[in-house]
Amino acid sequence: MAGIPTVAWDAGAIVVVDQRLLPHEARALRLTTVDALVDAITALAVRGAPALGVAGAYGVALAVRTDPDPASVRAQAERLAAARPTAVNLRWGVTRALARLAGGFAAVLAEAEAVRAEDEAVNRAACARAADLLVEECGPRGLRVLTHCNSGRLATASWGTGLGAVFTLAERGAVESVLATETRPLLQGARLTAWELAEAGLPYRICVDSAAPALIARGLVDCVLVGADRIAANGDTANKIGTYALALAAARAGVPFVVVAPESTVDETLPDGTGIVIEERAPDEVTAFHGVPTAPAGTAVYNPAFDVTPIDLITAVCTERRALRGREAPVAGLAR
Ligand code: MRU
Repeated sequence: MAGIPTVAWDAGAIVVVDQRLLPHEARALRLTTVDALVDAITALAVRGAPALGVAGAYGVALAVRTDPDPASVRAQAERLAAARPTAVNLRWGVTRALARLAGGFAAVLAEAEAVRAEDEAVNRAACARAADLLVEECGPRGLRVLTHCNSGRLATASWGTGLGAVFTLAERGAVESVLATETRPLLQGARLTAWELAEAGLPYRICVDSAAPALIARGLVDCVLVGADRIAANGDTANKIGTYALALAAARAGVPFVVVAPESTVDETLPDGTGIVIEERAPDEVTAFHGVPTAPAGTAVYNPAFDVTPIDLITAVCTERRALRGREAPVAGLAR
């Protein structure tokens, strides 16, 4: 991926590394229309909540460039914001850029560039807060960290959130090893997180998703670090499907479970997680693997892309501004 950004603007086009092809091939995609960007977002060529926020903001610039009529721009912006319904950063990025519409293309693009430029500092601050909290909870030692999906620089403009906190801990010499779940059905853990960890030179293993709760129960994990797609005002957190099972296992084992995200992932309009819309994706993500069928033809599928973890299973949600505390210890009803 050397030289190809997760998402950036270059001479009238949005440039992304096509994450569908990683880790085997690093190919740049140049997107010059809103249609092409919507396709890239729905196909997960660009993905991860903060990266979607940046892509959405740049997408409004594309819309203005194609047809500056405000009604047309607003219609295209709505298409972009709705392309993936759970990750609230997408609508947040679109809304931020749209607010500059009166200033024309230059003002909209400048706002999108600001969204991208702010991302690294915001993520690093949230990661530092999470790392401080984990050192406080676990003591100053090399941690065996488990992470789910991909919440590194491929999911943001830079650095990352959940995986970014792993890198922050590693900078402090506080990572012994990392366990990354493969993250079925699209393998963001096996393909993307493993790739980032290898690039960073950290000791890591991947495991099948169904192994992870048992490995937590066996005492092989000191803490769990994940990102988020939408966080309700009370801290309930939507993240990649499988996150809830990890939080349950961590709560029972008394292992810290920490969510790391920018404030732009917090949806203050929702008092709790019950109102979070969960994206459901195509059946063939589950019934086939790389185009090869793995289930009988016609098999019905339920394919939710995310789940919601209630705040009482989460040790803390760390953003650049605050730590929202949840459980302090093993959850009573779950304790052995
Ligand atoms: O479907 P994806 O790959 O976009 O899902 C991504 C996740 O669930 C991430 O954990 C989340 O967006 C946080 S990324 C910093």
